Amino acid sequence: MTCAIRDGAEQKIWARLDQLKAMRTKQGLSLKVGVLGCMAERLRDKLLDQGKLVDVVCGPDAYRSLPYLLALADENHQVANVMLSADETYADIMPLRLDPSQISAHLSIMRGCNNMCAFCIVPFTRGTERSRPIQSIVDEVRKLCEQGIREVTLLGQNVNSYRDTTAINALGLGSDLAPGFSTIYKRKDGGLRFAELIDRVAAVDPELRIRFTSPHPKDFPDDLLHVIRAHPNICNQLHLPAQSGSTTMLQRMRRGYSRDAFLSLVERARALIPNVALSTDIIAGFCGETEAEHQDTVSLMRDVAFDQAFMFAYSMREKTFAHRHMEDNVPAGVKSRRLAEIIATHYDAAKSKHQRMLVGTWQLVLVDGKARRNTKDGREQYAGRAESNLKVHFTLPDGVMGESLVGKYVAVEVHTASGASLSGEFRGVSSIREFHAASEPRGMTPTASAVAPAPVGALPTAERVVGATASSASG
Ligand code: 5AD
Ligand code: SF4
Repeated sequence: MTCAIRDGAEQKIWARLDQLKAMRTKQGLSLKVGVLGCMAERLRDKLLDQGKLVDVVCGPDAYRSLPYLLALADENHQVANVMLSADETYADIMPLRLDPSQISAHLSIMRGCNNMCAFCIVPFTRGTERSRPIQSIVDEVRKLCEQGIREVTLLGQNVNSYRDTTAINALGLGSDLAPGFSTIYKRKDGGLRFAELIDRVAAVDPELRIRFTSPHPKDFPDDLLHVIRAHPNICNQLHLPAQSGSTTMLQRMRRGYSRDAFLSLVERARALIPNVALSTDIIAGFCGETEAEHQDTVSLMRDVAFDQAFMFAYSMREKTFAHRHMEDNVPAGVKSRRLAEIIATHYDAAKSKHQRMLVGTWQLVLVDGKARRNTKDGREQYAGRAESNLKVHFTLPDGVMGESLVGKYVAVEVHTASGASLSGEFRGVSSIREFHAASEPRGMTPTASAVAPAPVGALPTAERVVGATASSASG
């Protein structure tokens, strides 16, 4: 499975193909090598030409033909299907989960993108936007719950563009929306939108955590913020890809918003969802970036203090608007220096924010397993994710078996914080509902005095695990 979004991602695949070729030629292994996904879409001919490294090339909308392609490919025939589709969503294909201990899952709700940001290859490798019908998403979420999944991330290139037009036909006009929904959400013409989808997904099981990525900041409706606030199981975490902090740069990137508009969205999100965690994507060194534009990005990182950030040096991609009309003229050394400055500013701002706001609070952590490292004084630690999506390491009191906590929600008192993670001490097993009831208003993480003794009393025996398994099959 490949990605084409930056050149670095593709270079890794070429190196892996060389390895596989060596396994075939030097070790005599009988392999069929397939390249799937966006790089296959973009480089079909190059992949087929390169000294028979590859037997099967299959683009992101052609996976249904994989059995056929695999049957056709042999020593003398390379095969490819990179047809893009206007309506493929794989709605009826339920992924097979081979690892029963998995506690989180990703679920694609829409595919493609119509935005055409100047730097981005996605519209060319993934095609135009199309949404998966709401019912098939809700059904899959229900099945995932039955399989023991505790956290679902809804995925799409631009989830705010989600629009299920089939549902309107299926349900008829004026069909019943989720209870309580009409008061906070203005129905738009032409289909069910993302805020409605997530409202329904959240209703499947109040003990299933829901995340989503990525929304596009330019069309971020307040309705969605209200829905997030209304559901304790929708994480109070938003990914808002800023890409740059400079209005002139954002214009060149064709993002459709200014620095001020982005900052007012941040303000709105923070006002409507107290303690909301924010993450972002940033590109350093896009075409024509001046030092002043770069400094605007640095100051954005400082001013917003994102909880997490994914920061990249720009790499020119074929077919994009930038490739056709602009020059990749920021020297590599300047790009990497600017990227390093952005990264340093981000971690610095995040660290002081986490230390100021999170140390001393209790966080609800979904435990995913034993931590890779022990504490400095040699104590064993377990790890999981807070609602903010920050990694949390925690120690356990004597007699509490860490393994019994995997896949459960626990309360952790935070003692230390860095820019990327938190550490603390286990305070007890909890549940989303219990924890949120103790931490009203939404997002005000409870301190010891606010919640004691609720989660502390619920040490992990199977009977005391509230909500985590008992309600998992509820609809
Ligand atoms: N160069 C560098 N980063 C890019 N991204 C998208 N295209 C490019 C590119 N050509 C980044 C954006 C996007 C994230 C998924 O990848 O920040 O949000
Ligand atoms: Fe790419 Fe995202 Fe812009 Fe779509 S919205 S073109 S996926 S950066």
